[in-house]
Amino acid sequence: MILVTGATGTIGRYLVRALAETEAPFRALVRDARKGKELGCEFVVGDFDEPASMVSALRGVDRLLLNSGGALPVAGQQPMVRQQAGVIDAARAAGVSWVVKVSAWQPGSDSKLSVRAHWEIERYLKASGLRWASLQPTGYMQNFFTGEGGYTHSGALSGPYGAGRVAYIDAYDVATCAAVLLTGPLGVGETYALTGPEALTHEEIAAKLNIPFRDLTRQVAAEGLRAQGLPGWFVDGLLQLYAEMAAGSMSEVTTAVRDLTGRAPRTFDEFLANR
Ligand SMILES: NC(=O)c1ccc[n+]([C@@H]2O[C@H](COP(=O)([O-])OP(=O)(O)OC[C@H]3O[C@@H](n4cnc5c(N)ncnc54)[C@H](OP(=O)(O)O)[C@@H]3O)[C@@H](O)[C@H]2O)c1
Repeated sequence: MILVTGATGTIGRYLVRALAETEAPFRALVRDARKGKELGCEFVVGDFDEPASMVSALRGVDRLLLNSGGALPVAGQQPMVRQQAGVIDAARAAGVSWVVKVSAWQPGSDSKLSVRAHWEIERYLKASGLRWASLQPTGYMQNFFTGEGGYTHSGALSGPYGAGRVAYIDAYDVATCAAVLLTGPLGVGETYALTGPEALTHEEIAAKLNIPFRDLTRQVAAEGLRAQGLPGWFVDGLLQLYAEMAAGSMSEVTTAVRDLTGRAPRTFDEFLANR
């Protein structure tokens, strides 16, 4: 039995559909039963912050998709580290044998914000004694519609992006890779750097979205972020991520999606056509 966590999120919704097309038995973890019913598959209600609910959710489970997000840091601490470490402990106690983790692009000890959190969780998972694989995707193409891609209320794509290229990936492809790993023999102890098939500038992306592109200076971007009420250390972290992106830190295109699934990842145009 596979347990899909983060099942109602960007990746999880695609993964539930991909697993439904296989013979593999699976259930989705949801915090809200109404969202579970909408998924149209077997589901169990649980919350990473309620350990007893995770003990129940993991009963009879041997394979786990470890994925969550959304919680904002409190006093510099990213709750995802405590939450996912707790789920790893519960999984080991439940007899889970195989964990596929949704991580982030090249997490390291000097990473910022949620990327740093993923580095810490990966370390914890690798030391747990469980068999694991890690998916390290670049930014999701979906970000441009969920708000994380720097959309402004005026409908322009704006941020301190410069002319740096980013090999954004469709979350559909991340989910397809996760489905392959969860249902097959591949990937034990492997890390997969997942990208789309092309690296685009944000000006090129804005053109595809048919909206204006505004390249902001670091100072203007910082003022805008602070005006949203974000704390200084968080703004600094975001600015560092932007600066790395502008310098091309996510411009590499890998073959990992094709290697795992046997087909090329979706282009930005294919992503838009399939929305
Ligand atoms: N966005 C990007 O460009 C990007 C790039 C690389 C990596 N990532 C990573 O990808 C991961 C998933 O991102 P996403 O965009 O799929 O996230 P998402 O759409 O916001 O979904 C997050 C999922 O986690 C669930 N969740 C949140 N808190 C939970 C808790 N306490 N207990 C149980 N479930 C909980 C949510 O359930 P509810 O429906 O109940 O809220 C939801 O299903 C994140 O870890 C993120 O850091 C994102």
